[in-house]
Amino acid sequence: MLVIGGTGLVGNALLRAWMARGARVSAATYHCHPSGSFLQLDMRDEGKVRSFLAAHRPTVAAVPAANPFVDYCELHPGETREVNVKGTLNVARACREIGARMIFYSSDYVFDGVKGTYTEEDAPSPINEYGRQKAEAEAGVLACDPKNLVLRTSGAYGWQWEPKNFVLQVRNNLSEGRKMRVAAGVRYNPTYVENLAEITAGLVAERAGGIFHVVGAEEIDRFEFATRVARAFGLDASLLERVSAAEFKAPAARPKESSLITEKVRRLLPGTPPVGVAAGLNSMLASEPAWREYAKTLPDPAAKVKP
Ligand SMILES: NC(=O)c1ccc[n+]([C@@H]2O[C@H](COP(=O)([O-])OP(=O)(O)OC[C@H]3O[C@@H](n4cnc5c(N)ncnc54)[C@H](OP(=O)(O)O)[C@@H]3O)[C@@H](O)[C@H]2O)c1
Repeated sequence: MLVIGGTGLVGNALLRAWMARGARVSAATYHCHPSGSFLQLDMRDEGKVRSFLAAHRPTVAAVPAANPFVDYCELHPGETREVNVKGTLNVARACREIGARMIFYSSDYVFDGVKGTYTEEDAPSPINEYGRQKAEAEAGVLACDPKNLVLRTSGAYGWQWEPKNFVLQVRNNLSEGRKMRVAAGVRYNPTYVENLAEITAGLVAERAGGIFHVVGAEEIDRFEFATRVARAFGLDASLLERVSAAEFKAPAARPKESSLITEKVRRLLPGTPPVGVAAGLNSMLASEPAWREYAKTLPDPAAKVKP
């Protein structure tokens, strides 16, 4: 197994899930780390991607690597397409050359949020650049090989090397007594990243291909979710300030309601169902000591340097 983007939220959880299953797995990352724990690969470079995959010959290559910053993509479409579309398709072509299956992570943002709930059969209708890039990459990955796996997820959270995800932002702000503005009126399915990783490993073991929605079991308003996070971590929820999505004046438009229906994955993997908010947050809390031990083995994020 190869995970391209092994330092990221999703990629690191997948790396650990496969290691726990005894898989032979290696991980690549864009930045260089003096510790050498991760192989270095810039997936924008087609020649390097081809020689890297030819040298490592994985049977499965997972690509959670991306520029997932929605507003940054809106403001820098050319630069981010190099990673999110061109880089992804470089890997897809290299996988086809060596007969490897590819797993690509996509997003609920391929939908416009008007209909509200979406199945894998619904046609993409993105309203921002990030969503357009994801929709284009999805189509390219499946055109390269229909046996490839496209997993659409949403609002992933969990322990993370660099604490960027929403749950850790809420926790870090509130635990330091800082107020935090949170958009209300935006509904989605927050996804516990360890559950996403387990489901990914399960789908790969079943040799599944095509598009699957893999998100948390509960659709929830973003402000309500932040309140549940505050309560779970024993923090002061009154520090959360309810703001309308329009008040944020973000560069990229967001879908108002982008709930993904998960019947397809539930039918295929009845033993590993998507978990809801309470189960996800409780598992996250329970796993904090184990995460702290594991995090000691990771390179210092401050030591990250561009190649
Ligand atoms: N997180 C969410 O809520 C969410 C929701 C929906 C969909 N998704 C999708 O799920 C996937 C994983 O998201 P994430 O939150 O785990 O992202 P993340 O934490 O930002 O991780 C991104 C990873 O991509 C690597 N990377 C960036 N540019 C690269 C390049 N040119 N070549 C090779 N590797 C590169 C990074 O390496 P370095 O660490 O070295 O920079 C990092 O390991 C993404 O496709 C994202 O769009 C995420």
